Amino acid sequence: MDPLYQEKVDEIIGRYQGQEGFLIQLLLDLQGELHWIPREVISHLSERLGVPKSQIYRIASFYKAVNLTPVGRHMIQVCMGTACQVRGAQKVLDYAASKLDIGPEETTPDLAFSLRKVNCLGCCSMGPVMTVDGEYHGGVTLEGTEKVLKDLR
Ligand code: FES
Repeated sequence: MDPLYQEKVDEIIGRYQGQEGFLIQLLLDLQGELHWIPREVISHLSERLGVPKSQIYRIASFYKAVNLTPVGRHMIQVCMGTACQVRGAQKVLDYAASKLDIGPEETTPDLAFSLRKVNCLGCCSMGPVMTVDGEYHGGVTLEGTEKVLKDLR
């Protein structure tokens, strides 16, 4: 395993030493630190904690916040709810995809960006809406999308 991963994983395991029912929180902490949870990390967790890998995968797969595939340092989410679609969300998504040269649900090879389609974010009157690293942007235009992506590079 990558020594950097091992150090982080062991440090996070140490936070929960002796506590019960901590696996979910531990996975969320790892997600926060590593942005995704590689297979080798699951194997290491299984060994260290004495928990079957299948159980760890089952829990990790259940939570949408936990990524089991590589995720970029910056997460771009475009709302594809009906209200946002009516206001041009598809164009925003297509534009972001073309600028990043990836499709929705993909990550750039340098792990800088991930692009996702999401359902209604609950602020339809601001549509089209996208989130950038969790920050909401409403009334998004193609120019605005370009600026956001440029500022993150
Ligand atoms: S449809 Fe996009 S925020 Fe509701």
